Amino acid sequence: PFEWYAEMRSEAPVHYDERRETWDVFRYEDVDRVLRDHETFSADRSSSGVDSSDEAGEGMPVLKTMISTDPPEHDRLRGFVNDRFQPGALREYRPRLAELTDELVDGLEDAGRFDFVEEFAIPLPVTVIAELLGIPAERRDQFKEWSDALIARPESPSEEAVQRMQARRETAQREMGQYFAKLLEERESGEGNDLVTLAATTDELRLQEKIGFCMILLLAGNITTTNLLTNAVWCFEEQGIMEAVRSGDIDRKKAIEEVLRYRSPIQEIQRVASENVELGGQQIEAGEVVNVWVGAANRDPEIFDEPETFRPERSPNQHLAFGKGIHYCLGAPLARLEADIALDRLLARFDRLDADLSELQPISSHYGLQFLPCRVN
Ligand code: HEM
Repeated sequence: PFEWYAEMRSEAPVHYDERRETWDVFRYEDVDRVLRDHETFSADRSSSGVDSSDEAGEGMPVLKTMISTDPPEHDRLRGFVNDRFQPGALREYRPRLAELTDELVDGLEDAGRFDFVEEFAIPLPVTVIAELLGIPAERRDQFKEWSDALIARPESPSEEAVQRMQARRETAQREMGQYFAKLLEERESGEGNDLVTLAATTDELRLQEKIGFCMILLLAGNITTTNLLTNAVWCFEEQGIMEAVRSGDIDRKKAIEEVLRYRSPIQEIQRVASENVELGGQQIEAGEVVNVWVGAANRDPEIFDEPETFRPERSPNQHLAFGKGIHYCLGAPLARLEADIALDRLLARFDRLDADLSELQPISSHYGLQFLPCRVN
């Protein structure tokens, strides 16, 4: 999409798409403004009058959660958990996350050649979030199946396949909702440090909102982190910097930020104008849907030197891959920590990690790859 972004940034930076009936926004300055100004650009898509149940932004079914609400609701739905996701609070998890990562790395050791997406990048975030939620070990396999079903895509565009996928998704959502309801009840007087107990013991949320909270962590956090991990290995291989990252000649954390900028797992975010507003010389009417292209903003030459070049030590790196403003990704510190640990452990364990980039099959809903064959020794 990057050539199209470049063209749009200079030719039609705020553009009305007649077919989709949405505005598209491409420049960093405008994307940044839309995301910051939550009063004019609402995250609550039910106010657009457009039925979004079918294609809720980035594959997320519509649940009443922080991600699709405006203040004051948003602040209530996020406030009770915000502290738990701060870098300081997550630090205590680092040893346990390293252990979970090592278990997955152990499994790769004998494989020799394996699909990085299937064997590592998909299971890691699911395992981590199950740990944070305090899902008992014996339910983890079931939990993984539900998570997979929630993000499943139809195997083909045929109506049958789409229906099968939707049925699978609805079943998973229902079963998972029931499971969380039960778990929340069991932990009402709990002392545990897990996020289900945190939700169970807060007075701020109703039961449905507590269930929604548990689910949104999976929906927002899993596929995005999968793609960050995959895109990191993809970029490092393509740029020939795997060894330099391993040796520390290239700073791992900075390189991960550059992956986030250069191959942002989420390329677009949606808002709805809540009043008439002018943006980039265009008149947007109240109720119209505004699509901001984070992936285009992240390559805007007004902000980034040589934006089309992957510069692993780019600094500063003010990318918008995690959004901006009040909806700024809750899980950003966790995603960064996971990627940091994952790349550290992978590169520490194997003398060589080679990815095969001869066949790149993009996924449709986010920015990432269907599979990434790797070889280790
Ligand atoms: C919000 C990206 C990982 C939970 C967001 C938003 C973006 C984003 C762009 C803003 C959406 C908007 O403004 O409408 C990413 C990326 C990730 C990642 C690129 C991985 C590389 C995670 C993880 C979790 C998570 C691991 C949870 C465990 C959330 C939540 C929100 C959110 C709950 C909504 C925050 C709010 O509305 O206040 N994410 N995310 N994300 N993300 Fe992430």
